[in-house]
Amino acid sequence: MSQPREVQAATGNRLTCKGWPQEAAMRMLMNNLDRRVGEKPDELIVYGGRGRAARSWEAFEAIVATLRELENDETLLVQSGKPVAVFRTQPEAPRVLIANANLVGKWATLEEFNRLEAMGLTMYGQMTAGSWIYIGSQGVIQGTFETMAALSQQKFGQETLRGRLYVSAGLGGMGGAQPLAGKMMDAVALLAEVDPSRIQKRLDSGYLDEVAPSIEAGVKAALDYKKKGEARSIAVQCHASELLQYLVDQNITPDVLSDQTAAHDPLVGYIPDGYDVAAAAKLRASDPEQYLRLARASIAHHVELWLTLLRRGAESFEYGNNIRREAYDQGVKDAFDIPGYVPAYIRDLFAQGKGPFRWAALSGDPEDIYKTDRLVLEMFPENAAMRRWITLAGKHIHFQGLPARIAYLGFGEREEFGVRVNDMVRKGELKAPIVFGRDHHDTGSVASPYRETEAMRDGSDAIADWPILNALLSTASGAHWVSFHHGGGTGIGYSLHAGMVVVGDGSKEAESRVWRVLHNDAGIGVVRHADAGYELSRRKLQDVPIHTPLIGPESQPRKEVTK
Ligand SMILES: NC(=O)c1ccc[n+]([C@@H]2O[C@H](COP(=O)([O-])OP(=O)(O)OC[C@H]3O[C@@H](n4cnc5c(N)ncnc54)[C@H](O)[C@@H]3O)[C@@H](O)[C@H]2O)c1
Repeated sequence: MSQPREVQAATGNRLTCKGWPQEAAMRMLMNNLDRRVGEKPDELIVYGGRGRAARSWEAFEAIVATLRELENDETLLVQSGKPVAVFRTQPEAPRVLIANANLVGKWATLEEFNRLEAMGLTMYGQMTAGSWIYIGSQGVIQGTFETMAALSQQKFGQETLRGRLYVSAGLGGMGGAQPLAGKMMDAVALLAEVDPSRIQKRLDSGYLDEVAPSIEAGVKAALDYKKKGEARSIAVQCHASELLQYLVDQNITPDVLSDQTAAHDPLVGYIPDGYDVAAAAKLRASDPEQYLRLARASIAHHVELWLTLLRRGAESFEYGNNIRREAYDQGVKDAFDIPGYVPAYIRDLFAQGKGPFRWAALSGDPEDIYKTDRLVLEMFPENAAMRRWITLAGKHIHFQGLPARIAYLGFGEREEFGVRVNDMVRKGELKAPIVFGRDHHDTGSVASPYRETEAMRDGSDAIADWPILNALLSTASGAHWVSFHHGGGTGIGYSLHAGMVVVGDGSKEAESRVWRVLHNDAGIGVVRHADAGYELSRRKLQDVPIHTPLIGPESQPRKEVTK
């Protein structure tokens, strides 16, 4: 049996596989398990609970060995993190096809998944863990930033949250991005966190500015910074409910209110009121049922206080931690008065084919990414949120593993950018090929009724044909690896989603492939939203070479594809 080992992707422009796509897949898989990138590499866990890159160390070593030998007309199949076969396909086909954690509908429960996982038959791939395109905490910082930017524009008509108070809880793996993203958006961020070690971690990494000695002192400091219009992040060591209770009692209404405790997993991710971390751990071990009862009652209380502040005018959103559903199941029947962040702010971006696009430099040289930063700023000066993000990211984001960048680019922008970057590789302006990919959390690639597809205009929230079509389209378009997963984000039973990656190695062949894959991938997102009745998407389709036979009275004539 293979053992855990230190993994780091090779860098530079020397090939160790039979082509750059295979080399890229191998380096990106290894990058996910780099100690500087993934959360618990020894257990093959990359992020998001137990989101893994491979099913076992034996499977990991076999994937690597297979990629090293894989020919340019062959395709490796990966079934829930285990390499199962290599087929002869053709040069323009993907080099790797991945399916993770998929279960037949009636069996798609967490209990059944746990049972099958314990038998060694499946693996949870989250979104970018099992599809080998995770890039560290930059992804969640940018997602939180983008959500705040869209909220700010739509609710306050301003580019930043200057002079606004953002209140939330949870400074864990993902939630720890809130203070930094808030600061990058010029807000005052006030965060409740029950675990002092999590607060210390965020202070040490520079994501958090200060910790207040009490709730009262934290709130007072936050209001002072708000008055001065100063961007600042403050943590208070307390339960979320304690902070919200204080705000309710003092009649202080935050401008924006959210939560990032891990309420989706109340046994592990939510500390009940009245318990500190050690007492909670003891109870969890000795009496898990009692723990769950207390945690769920605390979640219900937390959401009731939240609803009071919402009614007083706090702009509120759930950020995909399923806290509304948990509270609803405890009898808080108006929990869903709190909107999900996608219908509240992100839907318009998705409707235009905008989402968490990303690219990584196989050279390992940060300068390659800085050059692409300059290019993206030069190419799309009118994309204000992206401009702000890229400028600030250069200052605040430390690369983890292979240097990478994430940016919300849209349909049209992604393929233009991809071709220009491929050109830079060809001319030797970049030191090695660039990998283009995205989160599964994107415009046309996911069905998730409590998150990405919540409250679709035509009621198609749970229709999962779209992510399946997306994966098939990426395959037909020639993406270099394509993945289809179940359960990412909102958990087993709640989502189905697809991913793709394409490599720009500077060749002419890569140019048309990059253009086609990126164009079609974001294109199906626009089509999915146009089909659901979003006007923005219908307008977007008017001038592009995508024929949609039944959409809109002015249904588009066929146009020539230019690449
Ligand atoms: N929509 C998205 O794209 C998105 C992105 C990031 C995270 N999320 C969700 O956000 C949640 C948080 O993710 P994470 O990775 O940070 O989880 P995590 O388990 O690493 O952290 C949760 C934190 O909450 C704290 N906490 C628990 N109970 C508390 C309470 N009662 N009061 C105050 N603090 C409490 C814990 O001490 C911990 O630090 C998850 O549910 C995740 O799915 C969604």
